[in-house]
Amino acid sequence: MAAVKACNVLITGANRGLGLEMVKQLLEVNCPKRNIFAGCRDPIGPKCAELKELAKKHPSIITIVHLDVNDPCSIKESAKTVGSLLGESGLNLLVNNAGVLSPGTMLSTPDEDMHKAFNTNIMGPLIVIKEYLPYLRTAAKACGESGMSCDKAAIVNISAVLGSMTSLPSWYSQFPAFSYNVSKAGLNMITVCAALEFKTDEILCVAIHPGWVSTDMGGEKAPMDSRESVERVLHVLSSLTETQHGGFLDYTGKTLPW
Ligand SMILES: NC(=O)c1ccc[n+]([C@@H]2O[C@H](COP(=O)([O-])OP(=O)(O)OC[C@H]3O[C@@H](n4cnc5c(N)ncnc54)[C@H](OP(=O)(O)O)[C@@H]3O)[C@@H](O)[C@H]2O)c1
Repeated sequence: MAAVKACNVLITGANRGLGLEMVKQLLEVNCPKRNIFAGCRDPIGPKCAELKELAKKHPSIITIVHLDVNDPCSIKESAKTVGSLLGESGLNLLVNNAGVLSPGTMLSTPDEDMHKAFNTNIMGPLIVIKEYLPYLRTAAKACGESGMSCDKAAIVNISAVLGSMTSLPSWYSQFPAFSYNVSKAGLNMITVCAALEFKTDEILCVAIHPGWVSTDMGGEKAPMDSRESVERVLHVLSSLTETQHGGFLDYTGKTLPW
């Protein structure tokens, strides 16, 4: 199976769920120069224990970075720290994975949940993109070859089919998650705008739906586990070129309607 060979990778929300699984699977690929910057909002708390164990075993590959996507100062500080470690090769792959979901319809969702979804699922990825953009540009330039790929310079926004305006009607009665739906639609728009703005930089931008997965967010009834989802997502990422720039794809590589 093709593998993501990006040397320098940043993943937000890397302490559990799909983010942690992505760290694990990137470690399995033989890539001697790999550096994984694993973002976590509470590196000393119990929810980071597994990631910390992993980082202890692979100190030359994993760097745990304090990164709360709800806190612009934390994002800026993280970018300074990571930037100082990246050197001239820059950041090849940015995965905006951290996300929250609160159930509820338009009428039952408290304003507080709307703010939380917007801050975490829209403002967080947006500020992360802006703060890490200089390092993505460095990586794109350092590559020396034309074209786009996740190994060269890419922004991958982990979105959801529940953010698809076209697909939502078939899901909404089963999974009403109004704040999440609206926020992931917003993240999709960020992906499209980023693709337009960073095209000349040759930074690949895509939104990916990882499937319905049995994480804390996806719940026990989900038909797919994290291992399978991430395997398939990484396989899709390894094959992306400028053809998919600005697209919305699922874990099989199929293009989804907005
Ligand atoms: N699971 C699914 O079925 C599914 C389907 C479609 C899309 N997705 C998307 O996939 C991504 C990962 O979801 P998941 O299933 O792995 O969810 P999860 O198991 O609930 O994990 C969410 C991750 O996001 C982190 N996070 C939340 N708020 C954060 C903040 N303010 N700053 C930094 N990190 C924060 C969490 O950290 P803490 O431990 O600190 O809370 C955790 O690491 C999300 O964007 C989600 O929308 C999931």
